[in-house]
Amino acid sequence: MSDTTTISVAGDPGYDITVGRGLLETLGEKLPAGAQKVLVVHPPTLAAQAEALRAQLMGDRQVLLAEIPDAEQGKRVEVAAFCWQVMGQADFTRTDVVVGFGGGAVTDLAGFVAATWLRGVALVQVPTTVLGMVDAAVGGKTGINTAEGKNLVGAFWPPVAVVCDLDLLDTLSKNEATAGFAEVVKAGFIWHPEILDLIEADPTGIVDPKGEAFRRCVELAIDMKARVVGEDLREAGLREVLNYGHTLGHAIEHAERYRWRHGAAISVGMVFAAELSRLAGRLSDDVAQRHRTVLESLGLPTTYRAGAFQTLKATMQRDKKSRGSMLRFIVLDDLARPTVLQAPDESLLFAAYQEVGA
Ligand SMILES: NC(=O)c1ccc[n+]([C@@H]2O[C@H](COP(=O)([O-])OP(=O)(O)OC[C@H]3O[C@@H](n4cnc5c(N)ncnc54)[C@H](O)[C@@H]3O)[C@@H](O)[C@H]2O)c1
Repeated sequence: MSDTTTISVAGDPGYDITVGRGLLETLGEKLPAGAQKVLVVHPPTLAAQAEALRAQLMGDRQVLLAEIPDAEQGKRVEVAAFCWQVMGQADFTRTDVVVGFGGGAVTDLAGFVAATWLRGVALVQVPTTVLGMVDAAVGGKTGINTAEGKNLVGAFWPPVAVVCDLDLLDTLSKNEATAGFAEVVKAGFIWHPEILDLIEADPTGIVDPKGEAFRRCVELAIDMKARVVGEDLREAGLREVLNYGHTLGHAIEHAERYRWRHGAAISVGMVFAAELSRLAGRLSDDVAQRHRTVLESLGLPTTYRAGAFQTLKATMQRDKKSRGSMLRFIVLDDLARPTVLQAPDESLLFAAYQEVGA
């Protein structure tokens, strides 16, 4: 298909991410040739599309559907066990394939199931949200939540293919699409500033999945993630830059008991990281201010409760990026120049927080 973009992820083996429209119709071509059975994991919202997918993939193959609870409710060990049961009862073998068909919650769970069944079977990710396409389905991180916290159990299990059919986004609410777009903005600041120019040229139209500029932004964000995870699958170095805005963002999500969308929380987190960079003497006033302008133009929040600093700081201290009790932040030296700021003074952190506290 001529209107398809292919982005490759390096690795052993690597894999391709295809972006385009109408790609679901040829999904069969992306499945491993020897796969006799296909488990399609999907949320209730996509039941009709999953049924259509089954009809299309059937033929020589047996296609099983596993409808799982929506969103985070699907990322539980009981849900993984349900999938293992479906696979066990169908004699699912090591040459068969799992398809994750949904948002990031589904691709995380499906990936975890693929990583664990018979110690690993092939996985094809078909993300259906903006966040899924630009982030969750790319990079091989899979996982589930436990009572002790989000994403504490999981495995690195790269897919054999990722298929991003933009037509699937037509049914996504504007809110979901915008929240997912926060990760695209992040890619603009840390890697591909062209994204920022495209948003500024049309902030109200950019989040329309039918638009060409939307597609370009999504492709650039995927390109960034593909390059970073191609170099550093296991988060030993470069991958840490993807945490830009996430240290404070995760603390806000925690404080809000996950009622805030991830994108909204990291939106505030990015403004905080930019202010930290500016106050540390690394980033210009203009680029720091550009964070606010771009994020606000999309309707994303850029402030959080003024009195919440101590609570957020305590949560940040537990963040996975801190080494021992030392806080680490991804900051910017300039557009597309992310770096690590280790153990900033409490006074600097507090001053940066005052810039987002309202
Ligand atoms: N593995 C990773 O590297 C990684 C990275 C970022 C996020 N994540 C995970 O991703 C999850 C968040 O992903 P998300 O934002 O996609 O949320 P989600 O998967 O919960 O989906 C959000 C909502 O959109 C609905 N939906 C999905 N596709 C739709 C469509 N095409 N049309 C209409 N509605 C649709 C879902 O049913 C759900 O209600 C979190 O669990 C997070 O931990 C993982």
